[in-house]
Amino acid sequence: MLDHGAAPPAADSSTRPPQRPGGLGTRLTRRKPVERLVAEGGQGAGGSLRRSLGMWQLTMISIGATLGTGIFVVLGEAVPDAGPAVTVSFIIAGLTALFSALSYAELAGTIPVSGSSYSYAYATMGELVAWVCGWCLILEYGVSVAAVAVGWGEYLNELLSGTIGVTIPDALAAPPGDGGIFNLPALLVVLLSMAFLLGGARESARANTVMVAVKIAALLLFCSVAFMGIRAGNYTPFMPLGMAGVSAAGATLFFSYIGFDAASTAGEEAKNPKRDLPRAIMLSLLIVTALYVLVAAVAVGARPWEKFAGSEASLAGIMREVTGQTFWGVLLAAGAVIAIASVILTVLYGQTRILFAMSRDGLVPKVFSKVDARTGTPRANTVIVSLFCGVLAAAIPLGQLADATSIGTLFAFALVNIAVIVLRRTRPEMERTFRVPLSPLLPVVGFGFCVWMMGSLDVITWTVFGVWMAVGLVIYFGYGMRRSRLESDPVGAPVQK
Ligand code: ALA
Repeated sequence: MLDHGAAPPAADSSTRPPQRPGGLGTRLTRRKPVERLVAEGGQGAGGSLRRSLGMWQLTMISIGATLGTGIFVVLGEAVPDAGPAVTVSFIIAGLTALFSALSYAELAGTIPVSGSSYSYAYATMGELVAWVCGWCLILEYGVSVAAVAVGWGEYLNELLSGTIGVTIPDALAAPPGDGGIFNLPALLVVLLSMAFLLGGARESARANTVMVAVKIAALLLFCSVAFMGIRAGNYTPFMPLGMAGVSAAGATLFFSYIGFDAASTAGEEAKNPKRDLPRAIMLSLLIVTALYVLVAAVAVGARPWEKFAGSEASLAGIMREVTGQTFWGVLLAAGAVIAIASVILTVLYGQTRILFAMSRDGLVPKVFSKVDARTGTPRANTVIVSLFCGVLAAAIPLGQLADATSIGTLFAFALVNIAVIVLRRTRPEMERTFRVPLSPLLPVVGFGFCVWMMGSLDVITWTVFGVWMAVGLVIYFGYGMRRSRLESDPVGAPVQK
């Protein structure tokens, strides 16, 4: 098996003279050939990832990573902007996701590896762009785990108070900026997810499938119970704050679609990635969008839109109002606790696999691509990533984390749309199991949507993003560029199996 630390044993490495890396421009734009990316699939230091995931589990991974805080928490924050037209806001945010999802589906079927958009960028736009993309994915995955874990803590408190009448005191349930010292529940749920992931990808996927079933059931239960409380008058006026409010709410709700691409981080553990990844991505987006619109329509029908402002755990509150019993609210809170935990599990999984791919390419330390021979999982990687996310979740307020997640995700999505166009030009002959219709028009529209949404984020978010990028570039020039495996093997021969 490949020892990651050494230069890859290319087929002809013993006879080939040492290669010079070339000038700065050449190094920044060097691309990793698609064939090499695919040939290296699954290989890490000391072992290989196991191909154990089918189409159903991949779809569940994407739904698991998507359906969570957005619908259970952020919906309540978006209604005061959009009014009953929050359903339209969900459709607008869903369209932004859809155009990028089409591009993800094409690339995941063409380059079925675990690095997701990082690997797609490496194959099409070169190493520097790939690094920037991978660095953004840490915002999409690593930082969003922390954001979602904070939301989980809120629902846990709701559940505890509804069942045993006790809540975790603020000092232990909120970070310093939010009036506490430490967010203990957020840290605990990340560590719990870590324990599942250390058990193996198949075991984690099984646990995730059960959790996804529970969260879909909880949302359908909400719809059927809250349906009885719908009053036609609650739908008028439909857009109390006009189209501006609807699109502002759309930008906020984009957070609820983040994660549909998670299946693309499982490319090296999928049984038939070329066929199943595009299907899983599109199917999960379809299911999630349908659920969002349905839940939103019922929620604003059952509670006047003005009453959403300042309310926490709105779906649980609506259940209580409609039935007049706390039991239903508690039941929904229990569903939310499980739902949000599955987002943490799957997004944490995605982050470890992206770093796995970056490490195999030499851009981050090799500890991230070390595979445990017994479980076939990157154990050290999983522990490091979990501790990082756990500490972030325990120490930073939710709002700041969520905005950083959105800007990083939108940037990565924008690059994926460009990557489709570039790969169609550079490698038109490659087999594509899914093709974006009307390319390059739809990828360009997808790119435009991402840029438009990024433009609606505030100055503080952009400043944080700028600092994040500057740190990333320092690491790349100080470490990644010099340690890149393309430095020692620029020819790009596939590694030996
Ligand atoms: N889409 C994910 C959620 O809503 C991040 O929790």
